[in-house]
Amino acid sequence: MSILKIDEVTKVYEGKVTHRALNQLSFEVEKGEFLAVMGPSGSGKTTLLNVVSTIDTPTSGEITVDGIKPHELNKNELAYFRRRQLGFVFQDFNLLQMLTVEENMVLPLTLDNMDVELMEERVQSVSKQLGIQSILEKRPNEISGGQAQKTAIGRALIHKPSLILADEPTGNLDSNSSRDVLELLGRINKKEGTTIVMVTHDPIAASYCDRVLFIKDGEYFNEIYKDDHRQTFFQGILNVLSLLGGHVGDFSTVRLP
Ligand SMILES: Nc1ncnc2c1ncn2[C@@H]1O[C@H](COP(=O)(O)OP(=O)(O)O)[C@@H](O)[C@H]1O
Ligand SMILES: [Mg+2]
Repeated sequence: MSILKIDEVTKVYEGKVTHRALNQLSFEVEKGEFLAVMGPSGSGKTTLLNVVSTIDTPTSGEITVDGIKPHELNKNELAYFRRRQLGFVFQDFNLLQMLTVEENMVLPLTLDNMDVELMEERVQSVSKQLGIQSILEKRPNEISGGQAQKTAIGRALIHKPSLILADEPTGNLDSNSSRDVLELLGRINKKEGTTIVMVTHDPIAASYCDRVLFIKDGEYFNEIYKDDHRQTFFQGILNVLSLLGGHVGDFSTVRLP
């Protein structure tokens, strides 16, 4: 069953020069899938996440999330939809500096006037799952980048969303924290069945996913599915990236953990 359907979506930015950031893009994401989206810089990856998350409106085409067409909702329905169905994770964490880890995580719930005891329960179970119980009282400037991203993932999960959208979630992390965060996303995906769409330029990060979708100039370019060996999947990702052009980096000596 598909939880996300992108149907011939086009996004044109009008300006001094008009720019076609997405061009008749179509694909579907299955419920429970962990999908990576890759493509050169400027290929439309962030635009894609923005039209799915309703931050931006497609110029044409249709998007369906779990049977709902978010771009047809009114303002109130949309706010509710975004809070309930979607979780967001960003490259720079987007935590509020004056709030503690716990307060950052419950923020979406307080917006819904949730019962305090219920909130407490949710925080406990999510922070346990993420292994961040010991830092709940700390503020963002007192924790590591990896812990900050786990907090942001906690905030995204607190509503039990059906779809998590992550834009370069490991872009600001060192390789150990990246692996931690990716393994965590993988576990959440497997255990909770949460569907994840993750934009990344890192082929190692992409190799944690079930499938990698490649886009170029806002258009579908290719896709590959994981196989039994992460190393061959990783090699396959590198091969498509080299076809895509742009700087791939030197991964010739990388052995995956
Ligand atoms: N708000 C905007 N106004 C005009 N052009 C934009 C806007 N956002 C993105 N673009 C352009 O659309 C293209 C795709 O951008 P983006 O989706 O950010 O790519 P990516 O995330 O793959 O690097 C780029 O050429 C970018 O300059
Ligand atoms: Mg981007």
